[in-house]
Amino acid sequence: AGAPVIRKFDFLVLGSGIAGLSYALKVAEHGSVAVVTKAQAEEGCTQYAQGGVCAVLGKHDSVEAHVEDTMIAGDHLNSRRVVEVVCKEGPMRVMELVELGAEFTRKENGALHLTREGGHSHRRIVHAADVTGREIERALLAAAATKGNITFFEHHAAIDLVHSEVNGTKVCMGADVLDQQAMRIMRFMAPVTMLATGGAGQVYPNTTNPSVATGDGMAMAYRAKATVANMEFVQFHPTAFCASAVTGKPHLGRTFLISEAVRGEGGRLYNLAGHRFMEDYDSRFDLAPRDIVARAIQDQMLSRRESHVLLDISYKPRDEILSHFPNIAAQCKSFGIDITREPIPVAPAQHYMCGGVQTGLSGETNVAGLFACGEVSCTGLHGANRLASNSLLEGLVFAERAVLPSLAHAEGMLRDAGQAMARASQASDFVGPRELSVPTQEWVVAKRAELTSLMWSAAGIVRRRADMKEALQQLAGMHVDVQAMWQSYGTSTELMELRNLTTVGELILMSALQRQESRGGHLVLDHPGPALGHPRTTRIGGGNLSAS
Ligand code: FAD
Ligand code: SIN
Repeated sequence: AGAPVIRKFDFLVLGSGIAGLSYALKVAEHGSVAVVTKAQAEEGCTQYAQGGVCAVLGKHDSVEAHVEDTMIAGDHLNSRRVVEVVCKEGPMRVMELVELGAEFTRKENGALHLTREGGHSHRRIVHAADVTGREIERALLAAAATKGNITFFEHHAAIDLVHSEVNGTKVCMGADVLDQQAMRIMRFMAPVTMLATGGAGQVYPNTTNPSVATGDGMAMAYRAKATVANMEFVQFHPTAFCASAVTGKPHLGRTFLISEAVRGEGGRLYNLAGHRFMEDYDSRFDLAPRDIVARAIQDQMLSRRESHVLLDISYKPRDEILSHFPNIAAQCKSFGIDITREPIPVAPAQHYMCGGVQTGLSGETNVAGLFACGEVSCTGLHGANRLASNSLLEGLVFAERAVLPSLAHAEGMLRDAGQAMARASQASDFVGPRELSVPTQEWVVAKRAELTSLMWSAAGIVRRRADMKEALQQLAGMHVDVQAMWQSYGTSTELMELRNLTTVGELILMSALQRQESRGGHLVLDHPGPALGHPRTTRIGGGNLSAS
């Protein structure tokens, strides 16, 4: 234990994906900004995004059509007002990215090339071949490097939010952060904290998300009494590369995505008997929304007792395939598959959290001074299931919308909460950081494996209430063990992540048990259809917000 190092900034941004960086670039015009990020700055879901970012730019497209597609994909549990705002403001934000220097794929006439994905009635997806996220992250980081008042803290993990009650209002004043290299704790104080820590894919054993996606922001916000909403709506991407079909061995680590744009450009799904099975499930065939395609694939795999299905685009011209999908082609090639000649083995994998920290239309949460943006948030845009390529867009739109309210809050905070901030700046109640011993590391690895396999079986693509109840009980026990380990061993990245994953698992199960109907990403066999009159949003903790 010991007194922490205190750092003071005007704005504290947790996370350096599209949401955190877009916001940091904008508020940097108004004050000093700390960007605290758990690994290297570029690591996060953003840089792995493939398909692209939606924007209504096509001649025959319209904001209304984008709104309808988003509502249909979300099984109408979206907030229509939020959807309208995002679809309307989206094109401006995407064009800002272009002005910032992001180089997207263009047609011969120089216009942006628009691709298509499942659930979209028009071509409206701006992309950089199949590495859109890498290009966006590059452009945002390059822009941030030119701003003198943004300071990056890489390999720094936020552990918990610093919060208090001021005049009866819950207020966030910053975050306690583990410097993972120096193994010391720092307290970052700021009148405004932007939570942009991304998703929680690592709560499942098979996910397209990188290792940093451990739901830290959702768990921290929940502990700080923010409201967390719609956590049952976990999106499983239908087509992740099934490496084990090629190697014959279980695959470890991030599951490589085969972009939905492959189906958007004509890719067809077959089962191993060569049947185009999507015909049996949905009139939109291979381009039905993701939840429907993922469930159809899962059904095929279970009923036919096969580990995967096949995605074939090889009938298209070779040059077309290689110019649109160079990264996917190279990745498959490294497993000996030539996608211009043969089909790709695919199976569903966890991909995205539609739920998260509930916000209003400016990214504000029910904790004053705490804003949330990007995958960590639940703005009301996605409803029960996110439409492809709406996530990058949401990060861009809400980063902008949070700027003015952040400035207004910062002013009020300095006026009203000066004393509370001064007190928090002197706190010294820290459990010191410590490297884990080998047996404790092994314990953490075993607990994580137990947790993820429990989540896959109880809260995967198809769910049963009895399984979820039992899993929740098991997680409650795990929570006690992890908390005890945390108290006795002190802070470490591994324990922090396990603690957060356990909390996120509990939040998913609690929300899933609240929702007694099947909608979008939540299919529960006990309640196979939608229930009229069921609350639109499931909420846990905090207070209520009206926006969604
Ligand atoms: P991220 O980009 O995940 O960034 C989170 C940041 O928070 C990271 O910097 C991370 O290190 C940091 N962090 C996490 N925990 C902590 C902590 N405790 N302390 C400090 N920092 C922390 N969406 C689309 O719209 N179009 C696509 O084509 C698309 N393709 C995708 C392909 C893949 C393979 C994946 C995984 C996702 C894809 N998505 C796509 C979803 C989309 O990429 C993400 O939802 C989006 O990038 C999230 O952005 P973000 O800024 O919220 O989070
Ligand atoms: C993909 O390229 O299939 C991912 C798109 C998304 O997650 O929106």
